[in-house]
Formats: sequence, structure tokens, C-alpha cells
Amino acid sequence: MIVNYRLGWIKNLRVQKEVTFADVSDGSCPQRLQIVIPKSIKPKTLTTGSSVSVAGILTKGPRGQLELVAENIDVLGECVVADGYPFNPRTTYVPEYLRQYLHFRSRTNYISAILRVRNSVTKHIHDYFASKQFLNVHTPILTSNDCEGAGEVFKVQPENEQVIKAMMQEGKNNDTVYFGTKTYLTVSGQLHLEAICRSMGNVYTLGPTFRAENSRSRLHLSEFYMLEAELAFCDSLKELQDVIEDFIKFIFTKTFASNIDDLHIIDGENSKIPKWIDKDFIVLSYDEANKILMKKGFNQSVEEGINKEQELAIVDYCDGIPVFIIRWPKTLKSFYMKDTKDDSTKVEALDLLTPITGEVVGGSLREDDYRKLQLKLPSDRLKWYLDLRKFGNIPTGGFGLGLERLMQVLCGVNNIKDTLPFPRWPHNCDM
Ligand code: 4AD
Ligand code: MG
Repeated sequence: MIVNYRLGWIKNLRVQKEVTFADVSDGSCPQRLQIVIPKSIKPKTLTTGSSVSVAGILTKGPRGQLELVAENIDVLGECVVADGYPFNPRTTYVPEYLRQYLHFRSRTNYISAILRVRNSVTKHIHDYFASKQFLNVHTPILTSNDCEGAGEVFKVQPENEQVIKAMMQEGKNNDTVYFGTKTYLTVSGQLHLEAICRSMGNVYTLGPTFRAENSRSRLHLSEFYMLEAELAFCDSLKELQDVIEDFIKFIFTKTFASNIDDLHIIDGENSKIPKWIDKDFIVLSYDEANKILMKKGFNQSVEEGINKEQELAIVDYCDGIPVFIIRWPKTLKSFYMKDTKDDSTKVEALDLLTPITGEVVGGSLREDDYRKLQLKLPSDRLKWYLDLRKFGNIPTGGFGLGLERLMQVLCGVNNIKDTLPFPRWPHNCDM
């Protein structure tokens, strides 16, 4: 029986005397279908990269593989290097080159495999939290708070001058301006998530977050996706650590099962699930981590925090096993974190460090003492957040995990800009 296929894109062509073999991909999976094209029907414009529709008979080839013997083949869209198409067949490009062509690079095996893995990871994230009865909520992108207090917010205002003027007239003050209130793109959905957690129990959100860090490092984006979870009635860091560890092991196990062929394309044929999957994550206090760094020859003061090089040195010391650093100096962390009971200089905060990225998760118990939080509050605008402690409060703890950093660890991708289709980093928002 002749079947019509709207197929996809030619990945490879082998032209022989009487027949041409074409490998075609529709992008849905790493596998390609071989098309056998008799010389008599081969279109002149058939090139690698062109899109085709084929009518033919699906048969088994000599080695038992499925192949499509074409009776008719139409080129839907030509693709010619001489006309400016930036990818030559049979050339493998480095990621830096591909980043110049964000609109085309999902046609490469490397990036398309990464995007399929990302799709699966997203699905596994929702599966995990649904199986644990967490409620999925959407927190706002536009907000008047700077949750992390690091001053790394992007301000939002209308483009149209008339609208700005009208808003300022209506608004309470002259702040520029979103109806007279300084407004930002969110750096974290945490504070809003905490509000819902204080009425509906365990919650999570997965959405875009924005940081105006002037960093082009291999680990920073201006726009990234954060998974954030808030645990109701959580009063110990251990409880939080257990959920994070269980969640990360779940994502690795599921993704290595669902996308092993893609992971081989990205990280090589030998890529396999890391050896730490059956081991307990390591837990170090901030002070213990600092002692290890001293031993390793790093000479920094405790108040300076732990930089990227030091994070990776700690992971190395732990033999590549993910490591929680817990109980951080108050001065290094955000206002909402709960004081440690027996050490007034520390807060109940954690970072999870992994190979490749260092920090992949940041979390904490939340300050639930009304008076203490009142003193720590960075802005009057957060009175609503303080009120959460005044009325029907419960202890909660939560964490945020950078989806792109998780992708880096999972796939063995060195540069974060290759873990999502259209990365945004300083001076790169043209496409
Ligand atoms: O440690 P962070 O700043 O924590 C928070 O925002 C908390 N409010 C989360 C919470 O408790 N609900 O960010 C969390 C994670 C980091 O560990 C990192 O993986 C990622 O977000 N991240 C970035 N990823 C890419 N580019 C950036 N510029 C990032 N900044 C943070
Ligand atoms: Mg952090």
C-alpha cells in the first residue's frame, strides 16, 4: 500500500548511481527514517536541510530496519548553503558557533536532543509533585518585591509616554512606573508561594524568573526557569533536604529511562546515570565546608561566602556526590530565612552543590517569628508578607532549583546557554 508521509527534514544524503538514500527526521525522536529514492523521481532541489513530503511504501530494509521506498517526493522548502544557510552537511559545529543561529540550531542533533530531554524533565517534575500531592500554582511575573534583596531586578514600565503620564497622575507617587508603583520582573516566586502554602498546604511552581546580573558566565542567564516548592508544617532542614534529594534522584532515574538515546547524543555513548544515584547526599555545615576549603589551601574569611571555584572544590572533595551546605552566616543570606536556634549568627539555609554547576538549589526554613521578621523586613511594601505570620501562621520551608543548571548536570552540558532554546544573557536578546 502506498502511504503519504509529510515527513520532515533531510539530515543526510547518499547519492548513488541508480538510487539516493536520504535520512529524514521529523524532530520528535533521535531516530531517522531512511528513504530510498529512485533516480527517476529525485528532485533537483533535494539537499541536506530541505523539508520533504513523500509518498511511498514502508518496507523492511536488508538489515531489518524500516525504510520508505519513495514513489513520489516533493521538496516543500529548499535549503541551500550558497544562499546563506549557515550549516554545512557533514560538519560538526561547536556550541559557540550554534549560538549565533538560535533560530536554526534546534535543527542540529545536539540541541534537538537537549530540547527533548528538557521536555521530559518538565514532565517528570510535574509527575513527581503530583504523586506527592503538591498543588501546582502560578506565581506572578510582575511584582513589586525583590525577594532575594540582591538588587538584581529588571524594572518594568510601559513604552508609551502618554500611558506613563496617565499612570503617574493616577498613581500614589512619582515612581516610574506601573500605575505609580515600582514594578519588576520577578526574581523568585517564593513569597507568593508562601502565601498559598499558608492556606492550601504543600505547593510548587515552575516558571520563568529574571536576574539583572551582569554576568556572561557559563552558569548565569538573565531569564531562567525555576522550580520552587514550599513545604507546609516543615520545621527542620532535614525534612527539606530529604525532599530535594528524593526529587533529584527521581528526575535522574526517570530521564535516563525516558531519554537515554538523547543523552548519548549530548554527552557521548558512555553517558550513564551517575554513581551517586544509590548513595546518600553529603551534608556539611557551612563551618565544616570552610574547614575543608582551608585544608585545600583556599584562604578566605568565613564572611566572604563560598565562590564558584570553592563550590566545585567541595564537590570534588566529596568525590562528586551532591553535597548540602547548611546553616549559613546570616549576613550572606536573604531576609526571610529563619534564625538558627543555638547560633544567632546563622540562619537555617541550605545550598545543594553538584558537579559541573556547583550550586543547583537554594532553600531555607522561613522566619516564622512575627517580631523577628518585622525587624528583618527590607521594605514596607512587604507588609502583606509579614501579615502571613500574624494570622494563622504555620512553619514552612522551601527551595528553588534552577531548571537550566539541573539540565547541565543531567546532560553534562558545560554552558547553561545550551540548555534552553532561546537563552537570554547580557547584550543577547535580538532573536
Ligand atoms: O538561590 P536562589 O537565588 O534562591 C531563590 O531565589 C529562593 N527564593 C528560592 C526559594 O527558596 N524558593 O536561586 C535558586 C536557584 C539557584 O540555586 C540556581 O540554581 C538558580 O536558581 N539560579 C540561576 N540560574 C541561572 N541563571 C541565574 N542567573 C541564576 N540565579 C539563580
Ligand atoms: Mg542561591
